[in-house]
Amino acid sequence: MQQLPIDWGAMSQPRPSAATSTSTPEPGSHSKGCDAVSIGSPEALALTGPAAVRQPAFRSGRASLFHGDCLDWLAEREGESLHGVVTDPPYGLVEYSSLEQEKLRNGRGGVWRLPPAFDGRRRSPVPRFTTLTDADIDSLRCFFGRWAGLLLPVLVPGAHVLVASNPLLSHHVATAICDAGFERRGEIVRLVTTMRGGDRPKNAHEEFPGVTVMPRSRWEPWLLFRKPLRGRVQDNLSEWGTGGLRRVSDDQPFSDVIPSAPTRPAERRLAPHPSLKPQAFLRQVVRAILPLGEGIVLDSFAGSGSTLAAAERVGYESIGTELDAAYVEIARQAIPLLRDYEAVPSPPRSR
Ligand SMILES: C[S@@+](CC[C@H](N)C(=O)[O-])C[C@H]1O[C@@H](n2cnc3c(N)ncnc32)[C@H](O)[C@@H]1O
Repeated sequence: MQQLPIDWGAMSQPRPSAATSTSTPEPGSHSKGCDAVSIGSPEALALTGPAAVRQPAFRSGRASLFHGDCLDWLAEREGESLHGVVTDPPYGLVEYSSLEQEKLRNGRGGVWRLPPAFDGRRRSPVPRFTTLTDADIDSLRCFFGRWAGLLLPVLVPGAHVLVASNPLLSHHVATAICDAGFERRGEIVRLVTTMRGGDRPKNAHEEFPGVTVMPRSRWEPWLLFRKPLRGRVQDNLSEWGTGGLRRVSDDQPFSDVIPSAPTRPAERRLAPHPSLKPQAFLRQVVRAILPLGEGIVLDSFAGSGSTLAAAERVGYESIGTELDAAYVEIARQAIPLLRDYEAVPSPPRSR
């Protein structure tokens, strides 16, 4: 099994701030009162910038990955040229700011915390979202409003958009995306047991032994939207190959609950990204996003390229954008490895 060592020290970039603003409102923004919000600093944006996202950093099969800010890339993209989106953005935005990434890479403090090792096993750090301030939430809504406003014109009518989220924040993200003009089409429940929640009161666990402060999380919401149809579903299917979701088989429609094991260590070794999503789950949702299996799938927050690898596996053309140079390098190597990874889907739940 090939391992990809990461030299976090060498990779971390000097991007100090969690949010930047410019006085020029971006096209497509429907977020009233929002300045441009990005998690990159002016230095990073100058480095990546609109010009930098015109050429892919690399191609792998039918997948192309662009290094840069997805907002820049979307602003440059030709209208009505993409057919579906599957993406896993920073749920709380701040956890992928350069400041928090530096803390993660140095193993010190910040929103990334190690879950308690109650069974003696070492676990990967996860971001805590209970620390977000009102200003962080405002930035989150502005960012997703801008993202969705720029995304809408580059999608063909009837295109579906699937966005990973978190139960504490998903309502902010969904509101921003709907305000930008998308139609909400429900949620895909990824049934996965995480290490979030389930704790007794901090420093009072002996006094209140029968109390859990927050439920132990056993699911993850993936928010589903659609660009409004032009005409009827069948008109959109005929014209653009969009409007619906691909069935699992003749007798099985795509459904909104998908059992999913956490990403396995063997897969993490192929693509060492802190938020790696498992191929067994991604292949199912990527396949479903193009109802006729034709068109181009976008992942705006590509990370290790796992969505692009899943698209490769199911035979779709795909495009990704990723802001962080370290993750672009991981993706370059990981996409073919993840594509060939023999993932075992979790069995359906009987109850
Ligand atoms: C939750 S991770 C995605 C992980 C991915 N699903 C995987 O399995 O590897 C979100 C990614 O979005 C990237 N990102 C954050 N802001 C971005 C932006 N404005 N444009 C492009 N990428 C961005 C982060 O660097 C991070 O790698």
